[in-house]
Amino acid sequence: MDVLTMPRPDDLHIHLRDGDVLQAVLPATARVFGRATVMPNLRPPVVTTADAVAYRDRILAAVPAGVDFMPLMTLYLTDKTDPDDLKQGIGAGVVQAVKLYPAGATTNSDHGVRSLDGLDPVLEVLAARGIPLLVHGEVTDPEVDVFDREAVFIERHAVPMLERHPTLRMVFEHATTAEAVGFVRSHPEDRVAATLTPQHLLMDRNALFEGGLRPHRYCLPVLKRRQHREALLAAATSGDPRFFLGTDSAPHARHAKETACGCAGCYTAPHALALYAQAFDAVDALDRLPDFASRFGARFYGLPENAGQVRLVRDPVPVPDPTVLPDGHTIVPLLAGETLDWRVEIDPR
Ligand code: NCD
Ligand code: ZN
Repeated sequence: MDVLTMPRPDDLHIHLRDGDVLQAVLPATARVFGRATVMPNLRPPVVTTADAVAYRDRILAAVPAGVDFMPLMTLYLTDKTDPDDLKQGIGAGVVQAVKLYPAGATTNSDHGVRSLDGLDPVLEVLAARGIPLLVHGEVTDPEVDVFDREAVFIERHAVPMLERHPTLRMVFEHATTAEAVGFVRSHPEDRVAATLTPQHLLMDRNALFEGGLRPHRYCLPVLKRRQHREALLAAATSGDPRFFLGTDSAPHARHAKETACGCAGCYTAPHALALYAQAFDAVDALDRLPDFASRFGARFYGLPENAGQVRLVRDPVPVPDPTVLPDGHTIVPLLAGETLDWRVEIDPR
């Protein structure tokens, strides 16, 4: 297959940041994706409905003229989240999902949740309204090896949480292990799902050390062994609607990545769909990409398919150049300097 036409996709997990970075990174996503679930881990985080409304307005103001793009807003769950504010945000159609970061798990997560037990009133609001809880599924216990943190989270927290809240819906974000795939598959289709990133479908942990330390391939949850990558790719290409596209594109300036203590996050917004095409094509499963990218996520969120189409054309193109910020800093895309096999055309009619 050399040409693949599909409905405009959705990115169900992205970091758009704010200010100059938002202005610089948003156009690439808005050009290709009809909607994106916007992570709330700003500094300070998006915790109230009012925060989400203000952030949504800043995002919409950054969408290039003539481009149709809808941000799906999320709240950052804290120990102090007010169930009434959440009800109001959901009722007003502002809040599409709520994100759970265990405190300290990743970038800007220090406001995250310290005690999962205190969350019951908020989880009940979500469960009653069918709004998904988006989970960064890693324990923060320093005793647990960094490569095991996802599997341990599932056992210690995710399974008990779903047992306590039998109608709570969950998206296990950026799943990175075979254990996460098994966890998702052990629940009904409309109950638990997972987003999968391009880096976890394309690379295993050896890629972090290929010929030297590769900071632009470092994200959280960190890349895992090959067998996990294979399990994720099998899930992504299986036609199972519980697995859908969420890039986790997480821009950090080059100097914050190439340093003694580098930030976690892979920047994939400029070439996201081509990266997924690369991964699906490698296992001869391109025909499964339209459902994964354009239908399953929308279905889980209860949204209609996007209007408009995009087309992937087999045509070698270099990974886009770094994104330049007004202060001269740059953001380096994943696999910079390499060539991809796919070009993306917008609304080919
Ligand atoms: C994300 C970021 O930079 O905001 N980083 C990452 O490695 N994925 C945070 C997150 O989603 O964990
Ligand atoms: Zn993320």
